Amino acid sequence: MTDTAQVRKAVRALFDPRGCADPHPHYAVLRDHGPVWRLPDGTVLLSRFAECDHLLRAPLFRVEDEAWMAENFPETVEHMTVHSLMAEMVNQNPPHHERLRRLVGRAFTPRRVAELRPAVAELVEGLLDRLAKKAAGGEPVDFMAEFALPLPITVIGELLGIPAEDRAWFGPRVATVTAAIEQDLTGPALTAADRATEELWERLGELVRLRTREPREDLVSTLVAAREADGDRLTRRELLANLVLLYSAGYETTSNLLGNGLATLIERPALLNRLRGEPDRAGVWVEEMLRFTPPIPIASRWAGENTVLGGLPIARGTQVVGLLSSANRDPARYDNPDTFDPDRPRVPNLSFGAGAHYCLGAVLARMEAELAFPALLSRFGTIEFAAEEHLRPVMTSLRGYARLPLVLGG
Ligand code: HEM
Repeated sequence: MTDTAQVRKAVRALFDPRGCADPHPHYAVLRDHGPVWRLPDGTVLLSRFAECDHLLRAPLFRVEDEAWMAENFPETVEHMTVHSLMAEMVNQNPPHHERLRRLVGRAFTPRRVAELRPAVAELVEGLLDRLAKKAAGGEPVDFMAEFALPLPITVIGELLGIPAEDRAWFGPRVATVTAAIEQDLTGPALTAADRATEELWERLGELVRLRTREPREDLVSTLVAAREADGDRLTRRELLANLVLLYSAGYETTSNLLGNGLATLIERPALLNRLRGEPDRAGVWVEEMLRFTPPIPIASRWAGENTVLGGLPIARGTQVVGLLSSANRDPARYDNPDTFDPDRPRVPNLSFGAGAHYCLGAVLARMEAELAFPALLSRFGTIEFAAEEHLRPVMTSLRGYARLPLVLGG
């Protein structure tokens, strides 16, 4: 078999709807072949760290913004989902992106996140109490439903100031929008997402009205008030769209960090026991979990000008996909990259992205995980898989477990 045929086979396996429970051998084939690979439709895949990092940092690579959608998918721009998505900062290029990031970042400060720490620690203990009750007598419990999802949903709800009784209402609607994105914003999934987005805007709009009249100490109140020195402020569309972004980005990712990280430890019982004995080092363990199984495995851009990447000419308009998950296992950057090693030298990975769109919630996500793992391990003496794990079977914008049934012992 030729080298090229091997790469084709690996790429087919990565996109195989029957799933790739372990994509890493396929990524390795791609990386060995070279830094770039062009798919038959012209899309370019990047598998090594240096090129993925460049993709995220170089301004000539742009995110798919409203103008791009209008040019390439004009039939979608009238949809409510797309109207909302295109006002999110993650889908904006300079100079609009900097403006939005500054205005929203003003409300989302590391100080505000640090202030939440005691409340998050308390929340973790409360969820563990519930988990312990459900797991009593060896009953299998779904870690995702009982811990990994409720923790970040409650935290982001607290931070934004969404009333506790409303939070269960938000989850399914946000999930409907994510499902439509994963189906390329087409078909019935898009219709359902339009309805969900209308409802989200309506509910968040009510909250904005309330907080405009009576501000509180929450992020919605701060965002309503956020103004630049020249009086510039978020429009209603920008405010509502970015609230939806914060809500969804806030939990669909963190829940997968918790699920993926715990599964990695269960597969390595000696390491699981070791972390139990060194709770103060949880931060470096979480960093290694992020490197090892990133909740967001890919990032996509398009070339705003003709350029050359990894020796390959890239024409303006070309879609370029960075395989972050593969970059994080690039042997040129990490020794023994397929080994989970909490002692490895601290070399940044791409799990929170890089450059202008670097994750706004990284501090929050890290804090949640750093509190969750030591508390979980100190609460339960044994943590084991109850059944076959249910990894999401296809390569999507998120990677994690839909369900993670565990048996927990005192
Ligand atoms: C483990 C959890 C998380 C992971 C792995 C993650 C990952 C990422 C990645 C890879 C990006 C960059 C996307 C790109 O460049 O195309 C990003 C952006 C972003 N994330 Fe996160 N994220 C996590 C948690 C959070 C949380 C908790 C929040 C907020 C509460 C958040 C809010 C955002 C926002 C607002 C952006 C867009 C930033 C911009 O466009 O300037 N994320 N995240």
